[in-house]
Amino acid sequence: MDVVICRTQADAEAFAARIIADAINAKPEFKLGLATGATMEGVYAVLSQMNKDGKVDFSQVRSWNLDEYVGLAPDHDQSYHYFMNKHLFSNINIDKRNTHLPDGLASDEEMEAARYDASIDEAGGLDLWLVGIGQTGHIGFNDPGTSFTSRTHVAYLTNTTYEQNKNYFTPPESMPRRAFTAGVGTVMDAKRVLQLITGKRKAAIAAATIEGPVTAMISSTALQFHENALIVLDEDAAADLKLKDFYKEVFENDPKWANYR
Ligand code: F6R
Repeated sequence: MDVVICRTQADAEAFAARIIADAINAKPEFKLGLATGATMEGVYAVLSQMNKDGKVDFSQVRSWNLDEYVGLAPDHDQSYHYFMNKHLFSNINIDKRNTHLPDGLASDEEMEAARYDASIDEAGGLDLWLVGIGQTGHIGFNDPGTSFTSRTHVAYLTNTTYEQNKNYFTPPESMPRRAFTAGVGTVMDAKRVLQLITGKRKAAIAAATIEGPVTAMISSTALQFHENALIVLDEDAAADLKLKDFYKEVFENDPKWANYR
């Protein structure tokens, strides 16, 4: 697991965007996993600008998102379809037919989940999945207790996650309690996982993810088993890391980061 600590939230967002842009430039037919949430907005703004400036080309990229609320239509302003169009897809030269999210309105939930996993498998798996982290340590909506081998499924959201997200809805109680989410296993299958963690309120869960014991009670600790996981943090989110100085030393001295310093 690689850990990179950036000075500010904006630096961390730009760093994550650059990792993605470099990977797409090295392989134009890139298969990219994406996430939603406040943490991602800055990353998508940087990628949108880079695309506008001709620094990254999404024309051959295919994408898969982590999750979608059950019961929300793509044009609902709190659906993740809507979020992705607003913050990324409408601002870059991706072919929208190549973007995938679970269908929140699917009548057969099990079939929709299986279809979603199959679409990733048929594409040959994802090259990189960009993920955030929730207060419970969830990736996607994989709240505590989700099996590390889980595939895409419908999850009933914990109270913590409900409280974290409900204020985006009007009225708050209209937030769906269930959502499609790629499983921990689905995410772990990506060749690379890039996790972005920013802000003071994520410091404790960031330390648990990177340095704590591996447990299904904190889904993100599964990343300790991923052979190519990179966690990018800002100083606020890195505050509780015991090996903080070591991670910085590695970044400053390891030749593999030479182009990023
Ligand atoms: C959203 C997702 C979630 C968020 C997490 C953090 O697609 O997968 O796991 O990454 O809830 O959300 P923010 O960034 O709003 O703190």
